[in-house]
Amino acid sequence: TAPALKTFFNGKFKVGFTADPAWINDAPSQAILIKHAGSITAENVMKAQTIGTSAGVYNYGPADQVVNFAQANNIAVRGHALVWHSSTPAWFFAGDRSDMTAFRAIVRQRLETYITDVVTHFKGKIYAWDVVNEPTSDDAGSTYRNSEWYQIFCDSYLDIAFRAARAADPDVELFINDYSTEDPGKRARYMTVIQTLLDRGVPIDGVGHQFHISTTYPSAAQVEQALIEVEAKGLINHVTELDISFYTDPGSCFANQTGCVTGLVAGSAAVTTTLRTQALQYRAMYNIFASRASVESVTTWGVADNHTWLSTFPVTRLNLPLLFDTAGNPKSAFWAVVDPAFVP
Ligand code: G3I
Repeated sequence: TAPALKTFFNGKFKVGFTADPAWINDAPSQAILIKHAGSITAENVMKAQTIGTSAGVYNYGPADQVVNFAQANNIAVRGHALVWHSSTPAWFFAGDRSDMTAFRAIVRQRLETYITDVVTHFKGKIYAWDVVNEPTSDDAGSTYRNSEWYQIFCDSYLDIAFRAARAADPDVELFINDYSTEDPGKRARYMTVIQTLLDRGVPIDGVGHQFHISTTYPSAAQVEQALIEVEAKGLINHVTELDISFYTDPGSCFANQTGCVTGLVAGSAAVTTTLRTQALQYRAMYNIFASRASVESVTTWGVADNHTWLSTFPVTRLNLPLLFDTAGNPKSAFWAVVDPAFVP
Protein backbone atom coordinates (compact mmCIF):
# COMPACT_ATOMS: atom_id res chain seq x y z
CA THR A 1 0.00 0.00 0.00
CA ALA A 2 1.06 3.55 -0.70
CA PRO A 3 2.68 5.36 2.22
CA ALA A 4 1.29 8.77 3.16
CA LEU A 5 3.64 11.32 1.61
CA LYS A 6 3.36 13.65 4.60
CA THR A 7 4.58 10.82 6.84
CA PHE A 8 7.23 9.64 4.39
CA PHE A 9 8.82 13.11 4.29
CA ASN A 10 8.19 13.93 7.95
CA GLY A 11 11.23 15.75 9.34
CA LYS A 12 12.30 16.78 5.84
CA PHE A 13 9.62 19.11 4.45
CA LYS A 14 5.88 19.70 4.35
CA VAL A 15 4.29 17.91 1.39
CA GLY A 16 1.93 20.30 -0.33
CA PHE A 17 -0.74 20.31 -3.04
CA THR A 18 -2.67 23.09 -4.73
CA ALA A 19 -6.42 22.93 -4.33
CA ASP A 20 -9.33 25.28 -4.80
CA PRO A 21 -12.81 24.41 -3.45
CA ALA A 22 -13.72 22.43 -6.60
CA TRP A 23 -10.82 20.05 -6.01
CA ILE A 24 -11.32 19.81 -2.28
CA ASN A 25 -14.85 18.63 -3.11
CA ASP A 26 -13.74 16.25 -5.88
CA ALA A 27 -13.77 12.79 -4.25
CA PRO A 28 -10.44 11.36 -5.50
CA SER A 29 -8.58 14.63 -4.87
CA GLN A 30 -10.14 15.02 -1.44
CA ALA A 31 -8.98 11.54 -0.43
CA ILE A 32 -5.44 12.30 -1.60
CA LEU A 33 -5.34 15.56 0.34
CA ILE A 34 -6.59 13.95 3.54
CA LYS A 35 -4.08 11.12 3.34
CA HIS A 36 -0.99 12.81 1.89
CA ALA A 37 -1.09 16.58 2.41
CA GLY A 38 0.86 18.48 5.03
CA SER A 39 0.20 21.76 3.23
CA ILE A 40 -2.38 23.22 0.85
CA THR A 41 -2.03 26.23 -1.43
CA ALA A 42 -5.15 27.72 -2.99
CA GLU A 43 -4.60 27.58 -6.76
CA ASN A 44 -6.56 30.76 -7.51
CA VAL A 45 -8.90 31.81 -4.70
CA MET A 46 -6.36 33.69 -2.55
CA LYS A 47 -5.26 35.85 -5.44
CA ALA A 48 -6.30 39.52 -5.50
CA GLN A 49 -8.38 38.78 -8.60
CA THR A 50 -10.64 36.65 -6.39
CA ILE A 51 -10.34 38.29 -2.96
CA GLY A 52 -10.06 41.95 -3.92
CA THR A 53 -13.56 42.78 -5.14
CA SER A 54 -13.03 46.54 -4.84
CA ALA A 55 -11.24 48.90 -2.45
CA GLY A 56 -12.07 47.69 1.07
CA VAL A 57 -14.47 44.98 -0.18
CA TYR A 58 -13.29 41.39 0.09
CA ASN A 59 -14.50 38.03 -1.20
CA TYR A 60 -13.05 35.64 1.36
CA GLY A 61 -15.63 32.86 0.93
CA PRO A 62 -13.76 30.50 -1.43
CA ALA A 63 -10.44 30.97 0.38
CA ASP A 64 -12.12 30.35 3.73
CA GLN A 65 -13.43 27.04 2.37
CA VAL A 66 -9.86 25.99 1.64
CA VAL A 67 -8.66 27.09 5.08
CA ASN A 68 -11.58 25.39 6.86
CA PHE A 69 -10.94 22.11 5.01
CA ALA A 70 -7.25 22.31 5.86
CA GLN A 71 -7.88 23.02 9.53
CA ALA A 72 -10.46 20.22 9.81
CA ASN A 73 -7.84 17.81 8.46
CA ASN A 74 -4.81 19.17 10.29
CA ILE A 75 -3.20 20.51 7.11
CA ALA A 76 -1.15 23.73 7.05
CA VAL A 77 -1.93 26.47 4.49
CA ARG A 78 0.45 28.44 2.21
CA GLY A 79 -0.88 31.79 1.07
CA HIS A 80 -0.60 32.60 -2.65
CA ALA A 81 -0.24 35.44 -3.59
CA LEU A 82 -0.61 39.00 -2.26
CA VAL A 83 0.94 40.86 -5.21
CA TRP A 84 1.03 39.34 -8.68
CA HIS A 85 1.03 41.44 -11.85
CA SER A 86 -1.18 38.85 -13.48
CA SER A 87 -3.83 38.96 -10.75
CA THR A 88 -4.24 42.61 -9.86
CA PRO A 89 -7.79 43.93 -10.33
CA ALA A 90 -8.01 47.17 -12.27
CA TRP A 91 -9.27 49.21 -9.29
CA PHE A 92 -5.79 49.15 -7.75
CA PHE A 93 -4.50 51.30 -10.62
CA ALA A 94 -7.53 53.50 -11.25
CA GLY A 95 -7.10 57.27 -11.08
CA ASP A 96 -5.61 60.37 -12.59
CA ARG A 97 -1.91 60.09 -13.41
CA SER A 98 -1.29 63.73 -14.28
CA ASP A 99 0.27 64.17 -10.82
CA MET A 100 2.35 60.99 -10.35
CA THR A 101 3.31 61.80 -6.77
CA ALA A 102 -0.33 62.04 -5.75
CA PHE A 103 -1.26 58.99 -7.83
CA ARG A 104 1.52 56.92 -6.26
CA ALA A 105 0.35 57.86 -2.78
CA ILE A 106 -3.17 56.64 -3.57
CA VAL A 107 -2.06 53.34 -5.10
CA ARG A 108 0.36 52.78 -2.23
CA GLN A 109 -2.48 53.28 0.24
CA ARG A 110 -4.63 50.74 -1.64
CA LEU A 111 -1.82 48.19 -1.64
CA GLU A 112 -1.02 48.64 2.05
CA THR A 113 -4.68 48.43 3.01
CA TYR A 114 -5.23 45.31 0.90
CA ILE A 115 -2.23 43.51 2.35
CA THR A 116 -2.99 44.57 5.91
CA ASP A 117 -6.59 43.41 5.69
CA VAL A 118 -5.92 40.11 3.90
CA VAL A 119 -2.96 39.10 6.05
CA THR A 120 -4.95 40.01 9.18
CA HIS A 121 -7.96 37.98 8.00
CA PHE A 122 -5.82 34.83 7.72
CA LYS A 123 -3.53 35.57 10.66
CA GLY A 124 -2.66 32.39 12.58
CA LYS A 125 -4.12 30.20 9.82
CA ILE A 126 -1.37 30.51 7.21
CA TYR A 127 2.29 29.59 7.77
CA ALA A 128 3.79 31.36 4.75
CA TRP A 129 2.70 34.02 2.24
CA ASP A 130 3.94 34.56 -1.28
CA VAL A 131 4.08 38.32 -0.82
CA VAL A 132 5.27 39.15 -4.32
CA ASN A 133 4.96 36.66 -7.16
CA GLU A 134 7.07 36.76 -10.33
CA PRO A 135 8.83 40.14 -9.98
CA THR A 136 11.87 39.09 -12.01
CA SER A 137 12.45 39.93 -15.67
CA ASP A 138 12.63 37.14 -18.25
CA ASP A 139 14.95 39.29 -20.38
CA ALA A 140 18.68 39.53 -19.82
CA GLY A 141 18.55 43.31 -20.29
CA SER A 142 16.63 44.11 -17.11
CA THR A 143 16.40 42.85 -13.55
CA TYR A 144 12.76 43.54 -12.79
CA ARG A 145 9.62 42.54 -14.66
CA ASN A 146 8.20 45.63 -16.34
CA SER A 147 4.79 45.21 -14.71
CA GLU A 148 2.36 47.98 -13.94
CA TRP A 149 3.55 47.80 -10.32
CA TYR A 150 7.11 48.40 -11.50
CA GLN A 151 6.10 51.15 -13.89
CA ILE A 152 4.43 53.07 -11.09
CA PHE A 153 6.82 52.38 -8.20
CA CYS A 154 10.03 51.03 -9.69
CA ASP A 155 11.17 48.25 -7.35
CA SER A 156 9.97 50.01 -4.18
CA TYR A 157 6.60 48.22 -4.46
CA LEU A 158 8.34 45.10 -3.15
CA ASP A 159 9.47 46.95 -0.02
CA ILE A 160 5.98 48.35 0.52
CA ALA A 161 4.40 44.91 0.17
CA PHE A 162 6.81 43.01 2.43
CA ARG A 163 6.77 45.69 5.12
CA ALA A 164 2.97 45.82 5.16
CA ALA A 165 2.76 42.03 5.43
CA ARG A 166 5.27 41.95 8.29
CA ALA A 167 3.44 44.70 10.15
CA ALA A 168 0.15 42.80 9.84
CA ASP A 169 1.55 39.47 11.06
CA PRO A 170 5.00 39.25 12.66
CA ASP A 171 4.85 35.44 12.75
CA VAL A 172 3.93 34.39 9.22
CA GLU A 173 6.87 33.55 6.93
CA LEU A 174 7.23 36.00 4.03
CA PHE A 175 8.25 34.67 0.62
CA ILE A 176 9.18 36.00 -2.75
CA ASN A 177 8.24 33.53 -5.51
CA ASP A 178 9.27 33.10 -9.13
CA TYR A 179 9.59 30.62 -12.00
CA SER A 180 12.55 29.38 -14.06
CA THR A 181 14.90 29.73 -11.09
CA GLU A 182 16.61 26.61 -12.49
CA ASP A 183 17.75 28.73 -15.45
CA PRO A 184 21.12 30.38 -14.64
CA GLY A 185 20.28 33.71 -16.31
CA LYS A 186 16.84 34.14 -14.73
CA ARG A 187 18.23 32.96 -11.42
CA ALA A 188 21.03 35.54 -11.44
CA ARG A 189 18.43 38.28 -11.88
CA TYR A 190 16.22 36.75 -9.15
CA MET A 191 19.18 36.68 -6.77
CA THR A 192 19.82 40.35 -7.51
CA VAL A 193 16.19 41.15 -6.68
CA ILE A 194 16.47 39.23 -3.41
CA GLN A 195 19.86 40.63 -2.38
CA THR A 196 18.67 44.18 -3.07
CA LEU A 197 15.75 43.62 -0.69
CA LEU A 198 18.03 42.15 1.96
CA ASP A 199 20.43 45.07 1.62
CA ARG A 200 17.55 47.45 2.30
CA GLY A 201 16.51 45.49 5.39
CA VAL A 202 13.22 44.36 3.86
CA PRO A 203 11.67 41.54 5.91
CA ILE A 204 11.91 38.40 3.78
CA ASP A 205 12.17 34.90 5.21
CA GLY A 206 12.26 32.66 2.21
CA VAL A 207 12.47 32.10 -1.49
CA GLY A 208 9.94 30.22 -3.59
CA HIS A 209 10.93 28.20 -6.63
CA GLN A 210 7.95 27.34 -8.80
CA PHE A 211 9.78 24.59 -10.71
CA HIS A 212 7.32 24.13 -13.56
CA ILE A 213 9.75 21.76 -15.23
CA SER A 214 9.67 18.94 -17.78
CA THR A 215 10.61 15.28 -17.92
CA THR A 216 13.99 16.06 -19.53
CA TYR A 217 14.86 19.53 -18.27
CA PRO A 218 16.42 20.71 -15.99
CA SER A 219 18.92 18.37 -14.37
CA ALA A 220 18.81 17.74 -10.63
CA ALA A 221 22.14 19.57 -10.36
CA GLN A 222 20.63 22.74 -11.87
CA VAL A 223 17.77 22.59 -9.39
CA GLU A 224 20.14 21.98 -6.51
CA GLN A 225 22.21 25.01 -7.53
CA ALA A 226 19.13 27.22 -7.17
CA LEU A 227 18.57 25.90 -3.64
CA ILE A 228 22.23 26.37 -2.71
CA GLU A 229 22.29 30.01 -3.81
CA VAL A 230 19.34 30.77 -1.54
CA GLU A 231 20.94 28.94 1.38
CA ALA A 232 24.01 31.13 0.96
CA LYS A 233 21.78 34.11 1.77
CA GLY A 234 20.55 32.47 4.96
CA LEU A 235 16.99 32.08 3.63
CA ILE A 236 14.50 29.19 3.60
CA ASN A 237 13.62 27.38 0.35
CA HIS A 238 10.08 26.42 -0.63
CA VAL A 239 9.31 24.49 -3.78
CA THR A 240 6.00 26.15 -4.51
CA GLU A 241 4.51 24.92 -7.81
CA LEU A 242 6.22 21.73 -8.91
CA ASP A 243 4.89 19.81 -11.88
CA ILE A 244 6.71 17.79 -14.52
CA SER A 245 5.27 18.50 -17.95
CA PHE A 246 5.32 16.14 -20.93
CA TYR A 247 6.69 19.00 -23.04
CA THR A 248 9.76 21.17 -22.92
CA ASP A 249 8.05 24.21 -24.35
CA PRO A 250 7.02 26.62 -21.60
CA GLY A 251 3.67 26.40 -19.87
CA SER A 252 3.13 29.92 -21.11
CA CYS A 253 3.14 28.59 -24.67
CA PHE A 254 -0.13 29.96 -26.02
CA ALA A 255 -2.14 27.96 -28.50
CA ASN A 256 -1.61 30.45 -31.30
CA GLN A 257 2.11 30.85 -30.61
CA THR A 258 4.67 29.17 -32.87
CA GLY A 259 6.90 26.55 -31.29
CA CYS A 260 4.18 24.90 -29.21
CA VAL A 261 4.54 21.14 -29.25
CA THR A 262 1.47 19.21 -30.38
CA GLY A 263 -0.06 17.09 -27.62
CA LEU A 264 0.81 13.40 -27.30
CA VAL A 265 -1.93 10.91 -28.19
CA ALA A 266 -3.61 9.29 -25.17
CA GLY A 267 -2.63 5.64 -24.77
CA SER A 268 0.28 5.88 -27.23
CA ALA A 269 3.70 4.34 -26.71
CA ALA A 270 5.08 7.85 -26.46
CA VAL A 271 2.93 8.48 -23.39
CA THR A 272 4.20 5.27 -21.76
CA THR A 273 7.81 6.26 -22.40
CA THR A 274 7.25 9.80 -21.19
CA LEU A 275 5.66 8.60 -17.94
CA ARG A 276 8.79 6.52 -17.28
CA THR A 277 11.10 9.47 -17.86
CA GLN A 278 8.82 11.57 -15.68
CA ALA A 279 9.07 9.07 -12.82
CA LEU A 280 12.87 9.22 -12.91
CA GLN A 281 12.76 13.02 -13.00
CA TYR A 282 10.41 13.11 -9.97
CA ARG A 283 12.75 10.76 -8.08
CA ALA A 284 15.81 12.89 -8.89
CA MET A 285 14.03 16.05 -7.74
CA TYR A 286 12.68 14.68 -4.45
CA ASN A 287 16.09 13.20 -3.66
CA ILE A 288 17.56 16.69 -3.95
CA PHE A 289 14.76 18.29 -1.93
CA ALA A 290 15.11 15.72 0.86
CA SER A 291 18.88 16.14 0.95
CA ARG A 292 18.80 19.89 1.63
CA ALA A 293 17.74 20.98 5.11
CA SER A 294 16.83 24.43 3.76
CA VAL A 295 13.86 22.97 1.86
CA GLU A 296 10.92 23.19 4.24
CA SER A 297 7.96 22.80 1.89
CA VAL A 298 7.44 21.05 -1.47
CA THR A 299 4.12 21.68 -3.24
CA THR A 300 2.94 20.12 -6.47
CA TRP A 301 0.72 22.44 -8.54
CA GLY A 302 -2.46 20.40 -8.44
CA VAL A 303 -3.55 17.17 -6.81
CA ALA A 304 -4.11 14.55 -9.51
CA ASP A 305 -3.87 14.50 -13.30
CA ASN A 306 -7.63 15.05 -13.72
CA HIS A 307 -6.95 18.74 -13.10
CA THR A 308 -3.81 20.63 -14.07
CA TRP A 309 -3.30 24.08 -15.55
CA LEU A 310 -0.89 22.41 -18.00
CA SER A 311 -3.73 20.73 -19.87
CA THR A 312 -6.16 23.64 -19.71
CA PHE A 313 -4.40 26.97 -19.32
CA PRO A 314 -3.33 28.52 -21.59
CA VAL A 315 -3.00 25.55 -23.99
CA THR A 316 -5.30 22.53 -24.22
CA ARG A 317 -3.46 19.25 -24.81
CA LEU A 318 -2.77 15.97 -23.06
CA ASN A 319 -0.50 16.51 -20.07
CA LEU A 320 -0.21 14.28 -17.00
CA PRO A 321 2.30 16.16 -14.84
CA LEU A 322 1.48 15.14 -11.25
CA LEU A 323 2.08 12.22 -8.84
CA PHE A 324 -1.46 10.79 -9.05
CA ASP A 325 -3.33 9.71 -12.19
CA THR A 326 -6.67 10.97 -13.45
CA ALA A 327 -8.50 8.49 -11.18
CA GLY A 328 -6.43 9.55 -8.17
CA ASN A 329 -4.19 6.48 -8.01
CA PRO A 330 -0.44 6.75 -7.34
CA LYS A 331 1.54 6.82 -10.62
CA SER A 332 4.98 5.45 -11.37
CA ALA A 333 6.22 8.90 -10.41
CA PHE A 334 4.81 8.39 -6.91
CA TRP A 335 6.44 4.98 -6.49
CA ALA A 336 9.74 6.25 -7.85
CA VAL A 337 9.71 8.92 -5.14
CA VAL A 338 8.91 6.65 -2.20
CA ASP A 339 10.73 3.45 -3.25
CA PRO A 340 14.36 3.65 -4.38
CA ALA A 341 14.16 0.07 -5.69
CA PHE A 342 11.15 0.76 -7.91
CA VAL A 343 12.00 0.56 -11.61
CA PRO A 344 9.52 2.61 -13.65
O1 G3I B 1 -13.22 28.80 -14.14
C1 G3I B 1 -13.28 29.66 -15.29
C2 G3I B 1 -14.28 29.19 -16.30
O2 G3I B 1 -15.57 29.22 -15.74
C3 G3I B 1 -14.20 30.10 -17.53
O3 G3I B 1 -15.07 29.62 -18.52
C4 G3I B 1 -12.79 30.11 -18.08
C5 G3I B 1 -12.65 31.05 -19.27
O4 G3I B 1 -11.60 31.95 -19.13
O5 G3I B 1 -11.94 30.57 -17.06
C6 G3I B 1 -11.92 29.73 -15.90
O6 G3I B 1 -11.03 30.31 -14.98
C7 G3I B 1 -9.67 30.11 -15.23
C8 G3I B 1 -9.02 29.50 -14.00
O7 G3I B 1 -7.65 29.36 -14.23
C9 G3I B 1 -9.61 28.13 -13.65
O8 G3I B 1 -9.21 27.18 -14.59
C10 G3I B 1 -9.03 31.44 -15.55
O9 G3I B 1 -9.51 31.96 -16.77
C11 G3I B 1 -7.54 31.28 -15.64
O10 G3I B 1 -6.94 32.57 -15.74
C12 G3I B 1 -7.00 30.59 -14.40
O11 G3I B 1 -5.65 30.33 -14.61
C13 G3I B 1 -4.85 30.20 -13.45
C14 G3I B 1 -3.61 31.06 -13.67
O12 G3I B 1 -2.70 30.85 -12.60
C15 G3I B 1 -3.97 32.55 -13.70
O13 G3I B 1 -4.44 33.00 -12.45
C16 G3I B 1 -4.47 28.74 -13.30
O14 G3I B 1 -5.62 27.99 -12.90
C17 G3I B 1 -3.41 28.60 -12.21
O15 G3I B 1 -2.93 27.27 -12.18
C18 G3I B 1 -2.25 29.52 -12.54
O16 G3I B 1 -1.29 29.40 -11.50
C19 G3I B 1 -0.08 30.12 -11.70
C20 G3I B 1 0.40 30.58 -10.35
O17 G3I B 1 -0.59 31.33 -9.68
C21 G3I B 1 1.68 31.42 -10.47
N1 G3I B 1 2.70 30.69 -11.20
C22 G3I B 1 2.29 30.12 -12.50
C23 G3I B 1 1.04 29.26 -12.32
C24 G3I B 1 0.66 28.61 -13.63
O18 G3I B 1 0.30 29.56 -14.59
